Amino acid sequence: MAMKVIPISSGRTPAPAFEGGTLRDSLKRPMHDLRISVTDRCNFRCVYCMPREVFDANYTFLPHSAILSFEEIARLARIFVGLGVEKIRLTGGEPLVRRDLYRLVAMLKELDVELTLTTNGSLLARNAQALARAGLDRVTVRAMNDVDFPVAKVIEGIDAAAAAGLAPLKINMVVKRGVNDRDILPMAERWRSSGHIARFIEYMDVGSSNGWRMDDVVPSAEVVRRISERWPLEPVDANYPGEVAERWRYADGAGEIGVISSVTQAFCRSCTRMRLSTEGALFTCLFAQSGHDLKSLVRGGASDEQIRDEIAAVWQRRADRYSEIRTAATSKNKKVEMSYIGG
Ligand SMILES: C[S@@+](CC[C@H](N)C(=O)[O-])C[C@H]1O[C@@H](n2cnc3c(N)ncnc32)[C@H](O)[C@@H]1O
Ligand code: SF4
Repeated sequence: MAMKVIPISSGRTPAPAFEGGTLRDSLKRPMHDLRISVTDRCNFRCVYCMPREVFDANYTFLPHSAILSFEEIARLARIFVGLGVEKIRLTGGEPLVRRDLYRLVAMLKELDVELTLTTNGSLLARNAQALARAGLDRVTVRAMNDVDFPVAKVIEGIDAAAAAGLAPLKINMVVKRGVNDRDILPMAERWRSSGHIARFIEYMDVGSSNGWRMDDVVPSAEVVRRISERWPLEPVDANYPGEVAERWRYADGAGEIGVISSVTQAFCRSCTRMRLSTEGALFTCLFAQSGHDLKSLVRGGASDEQIRDEIAAVWQRRADRYSEIRTAATSKNKKVEMSYIGG
């Protein structure tokens, strides 16, 4: 589905103003991470992301000609790295439904960045070796629920990724009250002592199709309490400043879990992310209502320097802090779908 995209080229954009070597937005946040959505399609229909009733046979996905080629993505990624990006995550939709994704991984590996992938795991078993060989650093797998896809296949994918050297994996579960919150303890139990890290994500009001209500959110504090009652947990320091997941370890030494409290404890203040959509639009927030059109620059013959200046200008103007100011009313805004912008 095409989203509102604003043209960005004025042709007279000033060169970026780095402060002490760092590009900062209007709230002084540096740009460190880039999420790239490589496809708006997915073979799953998770209720909190691509509900079947909306993403049905009549839904129009982007045509191939509209989506960025691997070469176009790699060129943009190089420009982002020149502006300070140190981490790139490939996502979607389901990134592994994009054919030969390992080719893009190999192209991005030439940049000096940490390169990761978020996947629903369904196609991981057959791709893990090629991705690892191409230079992927880490994988996050979304936990399995609410589709008929066999859990065993996802676990096979996780095992294949671990065997290919991509361990430890992060295994995410979006928790929606009344839908899968009874799976919190089984999920914790499944990944305790496995060497991988189970992470529980608060259900968010991304997009406009999932019918989000605050009552559906299970606060991370409740997740931690419920797990801790069974297997006591103790807090662990963040790996680095601004880490989104809060870490907890099992007191009995069975490893750790993470919780991501995007709703109850917004982390906008430390958000260092830029997002590149499947069709080459730039989004400065997951909850944005429109993006900035980079594809026209790329396909219109702009130089790397012009593109760099436009990206920098978008970042320098950035003032987003949606999760901090979320209300029942803002959750009804017409927002971009997560499968399009990349989760
Ligand atoms: C949109 S998916 C794309 C990558 C891949 N298909 C997957 O499922 O991991 C990226 C992440 O967004 C999460 N997600 C999707 N909808 C969400 C929602 N409404 N609230 C919180 N997280 C959500 C998914 O669970 C996943 O971890
Ligand atoms: S993109 Fe990921 S979260 Fe969304 S429906 Fe597909 S598998 Fe589920």
